[in-house]
Amino acid sequence: MSVKDLIRFDNFSFKYNSRNDKVLEDINLNIKKNEITVLAGPTGCGKSTLLRAIVGLIPNMYEGEYTGEVTVDGIRIRDAEIKEIAKRVGFVFQNPENQIFMFSVERDIAFGLENLSLEQEIIKNRIEETMKTLNITHLAKKAPHELSDGQKQRTALAGVLAMEPKILILDEPTSLLDPKTATEFMELMNKLCKEREMSIIIVEHRLDLVLKYADRLIVLSNGKVISNDTPENVFDYKKEVIPELSVPFSTKLYRELAKNSMKFSKPVTGVEEMIKEVKK
Ligand SMILES: Nc1ncnc2c1ncn2[C@@H]1O[C@H](COP(=O)(O)OP(=O)(O)OP(=O)(O)O)[C@@H](O)[C@H]1O
Ligand SMILES: [Mg+2]
Repeated sequence: MSVKDLIRFDNFSFKYNSRNDKVLEDINLNIKKNEITVLAGPTGCGKSTLLRAIVGLIPNMYEGEYTGEVTVDGIRIRDAEIKEIAKRVGFVFQNPENQIFMFSVERDIAFGLENLSLEQEIIKNRIEETMKTLNITHLAKKAPHELSDGQKQRTALAGVLAMEPKILILDEPTSLLDPKTATEFMELMNKLCKEREMSIIIVEHRLDLVLKYADRLIVLSNGKVISNDTPENVFDYKKEVIPELSVPFSTKLYRELAKNSMKFSKPVTGVEEMIKEVKK
């Protein structure tokens, strides 16, 4: 295992007990430190299942047939205690409804910190800082049922960020946000990734929103990894587009223009980049 490998899947397969077929099959992956990785693929292809295997919900909460190994920050997930994993990995579910359950936003953020057995003073400071970072200080005393969906998502994220994880796992975190707020959210994630040397794995269908920040794009289809490369390489005009991906409009345009011998310094995966290239 290279020192830069933070997460590794070695010949990993998983079958939920209630199903006859494997949901993930023969997964081999290594995810490096301080990178933003985007995980994409059609609905039902196994993205959330893969994330569950990183955070230890598989095999701890979901029963099934588990083969191969998943290693996160040097620990084997199969025999790790949830508490050990939680110190390293923060996870925001696809549906934040299931993740906030305390009486108020600040109590909710405190919950995870108290489980880490930190001192009261540190807990207080972390709650304040995190609410400030995520712009939710004004919601501190609100109960979960008084929050909008986007605010719930932020609260769930706050609970996780306050624990200062090395690895942040986000399952469609912008699905409930309007486009502008979604862009601000990604800017914030990118900033935190750099400032805190945090690694982020994000499942997202809106590639035009996230590829700009991504170091790597992993594509799953039918439980298998069908592509694992930099976004630039995945969308290089000399290659066929992966049919499972919805290609951002700016990338489609780049591919057409590049095929017709217009010069680009590199493949375009976002609108801002396209504007820069056109200005040149
Ligand atoms: N707890 C479970 N028990 C049995 N089967 C499950 C369970 N969770 C998911 N599955 C099945 O496993 C497959 C992969 O599901 P998963 O949720 O990982 O897909 P996904 O790629 O995250 O999809 P989406 O983009 O819709 O969120 C699906 O066929 C789903 O029905
Ligand atoms: Mg999912």
